[in-house]
Amino acid sequence: MTRWYQNVMGLSPQILADNLVWLSGSQRNMLLTRGTPGTLRFAAFSAHDDKHLKNIKAHLIAQKLHLKKLSSPLFKNSCFAFVDPDGNNILLGLPKSLRGKREILPGRLQHVVFATNQLKRNVAFYTDTLGFKVSDIVREDTTGEDTACFLRSDKMHHSIAFFRAPKTKLDHFANEADCWNDIRDWGDHFAANKVEIVWGAGRHGAGNNLFIFVRDPDGNSLEISAELEMFSYNQQPRIWSHGPRPLNLWGEAWMRS
Ligand SMILES: [Fe+2]
Repeated sequence: MTRWYQNVMGLSPQILADNLVWLSGSQRNMLLTRGTPGTLRFAAFSAHDDKHLKNIKAHLIAQKLHLKKLSSPLFKNSCFAFVDPDGNNILLGLPKSLRGKREILPGRLQHVVFATNQLKRNVAFYTDTLGFKVSDIVREDTTGEDTACFLRSDKMHHSIAFFRAPKTKLDHFANEADCWNDIRDWGDHFAANKVEIVWGAGRHGAGNNLFIFVRDPDGNSLEISAELEMFSYNQQPRIWSHGPRPLNLWGEAWMRS
């Protein structure tokens, strides 16, 4: 995994402890630790500044959410975490000013997506308790049941999303590149490293972003995305009919349920 992220994703590994490798870059940072492949220890979101982080913390305490101390070598001491209804650990904090070497190709760590068998419960938690806004909902015409939900915490269409699936797990995470030509360059770069594109190129309906997907050696899905839509604060959610189109306007979709 360390070699793959170094060679393919252009990150620089540093061993921080026996069990911990920091993969650093200027736009994306990851921590690798030993564990079951395909599991996520935590996902971290950065606040804009100290005041923003304090406001979030005060809001979560007012919501009676249990906050836990979770430290990360990449975040300042003021960081804290909570556990969502699916058991995902989410850390909020201010990143230390660590600017690693420039990566091979652009793509900032931008969103994380979870598969869940409790979609409704999770969406309620992220909106009602945390204050995320719904950007797009995918809904079955026949049952009226939601099958996916995309949630934003800033102007970007989504920074977290949930797909209805038989099993609760990490679905994928995405690196947002600057433009379509970056997707081309990533495709050529993956080809040179014999990394197969497993889905795409395509354009998501929800979010309208261009995408390609690859898998790392543990089987985690990584997305390279570009042109993700921007939403205003008060923009109302769109509703999509369940089917391939919300996931891929150009063709076949990777259906989670
Ligand atoms: Fe994505």
